[in-house]
Amino acid sequence: MRIPFIAGNWKMFKSRIETVVFAREFKELYKDTDVRTAICAPYVHLDTLKAVFEGTQIKVGAQNVHFEDQGAFTGEVSALMLEEIGVDYCIVGHSERRQYFAETDETVNKKLHKLFETSIVPIMCVGEVLEQREAGTEAEVVKKQLHRGLAGIREEQIKKLVIAYEPVWAIGTGLTASPLQAEEMCGIIRNTIDDLYSPEAGDSVIIQYGGSVKPANASEIMNMPQIDGCLVGGASLEPVDFMQIIDF
Ligand code: PGA
Repeated sequence: MRIPFIAGNWKMFKSRIETVVFAREFKELYKDTDVRTAICAPYVHLDTLKAVFEGTQIKVGAQNVHFEDQGAFTGEVSALMLEEIGVDYCIVGHSERRQYFAETDETVNKKLHKLFETSIVPIMCVGEVLEQREAGTEAEVVKKQLHRGLAGIREEQIKKLVIAYEPVWAIGTGLTASPLQAEEMCGIIRNTIDDLYSPEAGDSVIIQYGGSVKPANASEIMNMPQIDGCLVGGASLEPVDFMQIIDF
């Protein structure tokens, strides 16, 4: 049985005060559910969120990590540093990082290896851009991202991994992949894990859909058999909206 997992991705939003206000309000609204819940926030807010959410089921994630333990890498943060402050999850390979910060399948792979040396669970993002969808190459693109990104990752590690399918054309655009389009791609991702590892690994890996998820479409998406959760951008910035998605 795969446990549903809904994670918010705040991207580069919210001041310190806004973070505290959100966290207090969300903690009030939050009822313990069977749905795993996390908020992936900017590095500077992780400690604050950990403190406010202490004693609740609400987990905290980072949005990026460096693949070395330490060194002369100005501006970077290591997995060990994140682990030390109790971070539970870390997004890797988000399309915005691939697009604006030269993230590649190779750096995604190195980051996954590094995170698997810690207790932090990676949320690995894959997805095609609009031209690839229009050319009908989305399955090929995503399979290639998985093959390269997961090189050398072992089966027991895969069972702990979260994969987020995020068609780039549906992120922050208001366009959502139809539940059937999302279901089809999440099925392709699961079959790829079956082929690369084993049917048991495919069965246990958590696959999220991300791209303009909101309260109005969450239940339709979450009812798809291959979709175990959502990675929510814009709608995770409002406590009421995010809670409604978790309550799908
Ligand atoms: P969105 O973002 O929900 O605002 O489309 C999703 C994401 O980028 O993870």
